[in-house]
Amino acid sequence: MIEALRLVMTDATAPISQMLPSQALPRTKDMATSFLFSSTLLSTIHLNKLVHLILSALVHEQNQLFGRAMLYLHNPKTCTLQGMLGICREDASALHIVDTTEGNPLTGHWDLDDRTMEQQRQSEFCRNVRASRIDLDDGCRIVSRVVKERIPCRISHIDCLECRDCGFVRRFDMKTFAVAPLATRDRLVGIIIVDNPLSDGPIEDEQLQLLQLFANQSGMALENSRLYRNLEETHAELRDARQRLMHGAHLAALGEMAASLSHELKTPLVTIGGFAARLGRLLEPDATQRQYLDTIIGEVQRLEHLLGDVLAYSKKPTICYNRFDLRAVIRESIEDYFIVFEEQGISCHLLLPEGYWEVLGDAHQLKQVFINLLVNAQEAMPDGGELRLTLSRGDTEKPSVVVTLADTGGGIPEESLSSIFTPFFTTKRRGTGLGLPIVSRIVQNHGGMISAGNSDLGAEFRVMLPLAGMPD
Ligand SMILES: Nc1ncnc2c1ncn2[C@@H]1O[C@H](COP(=O)(O)OP(=O)(O)O)[C@@H](O)[C@H]1O
Ligand SMILES: [Mg+2]
Repeated sequence: MIEALRLVMTDATAPISQMLPSQALPRTKDMATSFLFSSTLLSTIHLNKLVHLILSALVHEQNQLFGRAMLYLHNPKTCTLQGMLGICREDASALHIVDTTEGNPLTGHWDLDDRTMEQQRQSEFCRNVRASRIDLDDGCRIVSRVVKERIPCRISHIDCLECRDCGFVRRFDMKTFAVAPLATRDRLVGIIIVDNPLSDGPIEDEQLQLLQLFANQSGMALENSRLYRNLEETHAELRDARQRLMHGAHLAALGEMAASLSHELKTPLVTIGGFAARLGRLLEPDATQRQYLDTIIGEVQRLEHLLGDVLAYSKKPTICYNRFDLRAVIRESIEDYFIVFEEQGISCHLLLPEGYWEVLGDAHQLKQVFINLLVNAQEAMPDGGELRLTLSRGDTEKPSVVVTLADTGGGIPEESLSSIFTPFFTTKRRGTGLGLPIVSRIVQNHGGMISAGNSDLGAEFRVMLPLAGMPD
């Protein structure tokens, strides 16, 4: 039983003669091994390589320590230890020393090549370890105790047989084994389990002390590696944010230019349109000049529309946040277009289920999103068709809503799919190519996402928006 365990503690404050039995004072060989071990931990920052080196060193024939070694990493969220790597003595023979000065045992470090590490990962034992997980609340009680008290321990076969509910020892057919915690000052990183399946010999005091010495150093090295990876990820995120900011600054400059240009252009355009309409009223209905005037009026309207789109795209995102039911915005947008759809023979099917569909955002801007998508659908079905608009829950971590708009207009050509959200991309003779970029920008400013694809009969757009939290 657990009470019968013989625990060996390493007390950092105790004098060394108290920590180690006198016959176990470090031998030169152990010192050389410890030295090699610590320089090996300094030789790489990559977590994967580190764990291969640590376990290989523990089982390598020359070190005469253990026959098998396994590493489990701690997952505090699930309160489990997940098997990460397991290495037997025969899989560690390729471990070799590099950078050594001839004749000096206190130089160099161990190394392994990528192929050996791959072979180690593919071994049956390793796969078995990776497929295993130790539940700290309800699994091996001995391991749980090591984790709780952060001290190493060794267990004999007899101790474990008494612990009948544990499948762990049977899974690996372990007899005498030792467990050491991998910990930093305030965090448990994982554990190392070692045994000697072939010799079935006992684990000596010196071996256990070396194991704990290695485990202490390994815990720090693995933690450093994790922190380094976090640092790299944060650095990459910062770089992306900087690029987005620079892009934003360019867009802002473009926006200002577009705003002043459009202001300059709008006034003469209104004058041209107004005078053209006046001239039209002076002409006889069947006058040949009417055709010219209609062209002028049509083109003026198109330019006004283009200027409106450029302004909408380059405008700074000022969102007036309000909480509202998304279904109301969708219904309003459809109502605005209902007559146009009817005249063009487009039937509209709405599936807006009951439920909580409140979002936090700018209703006016979101209406613009649906109108732009409806206009595109209408333009894709000049000879009539069907439009289906469905509301459903998103499968995101935080609650979200997905609005799907599917038409029967033949779809978006495969080669255009990757360009449709790029400003000014259009396949239409009179298109501005700004409808979807405006949609995408508004959706993103609301913390959502838009994607486009094709179904059998036409295009399908999916707009995902985060749902507002339920009011208290
Ligand atoms: N429902 C749709 N069906 C087919 N193609 C579409 C649809 N919606 C958008 N597209 C494609 O995406 C392009 C870009 O759309 P958009 O940004 O709204 O600009 P525009 O409508 O002015 O061309 C369109 O020219 C068209 O090729
Ligand atoms: Mg459009």
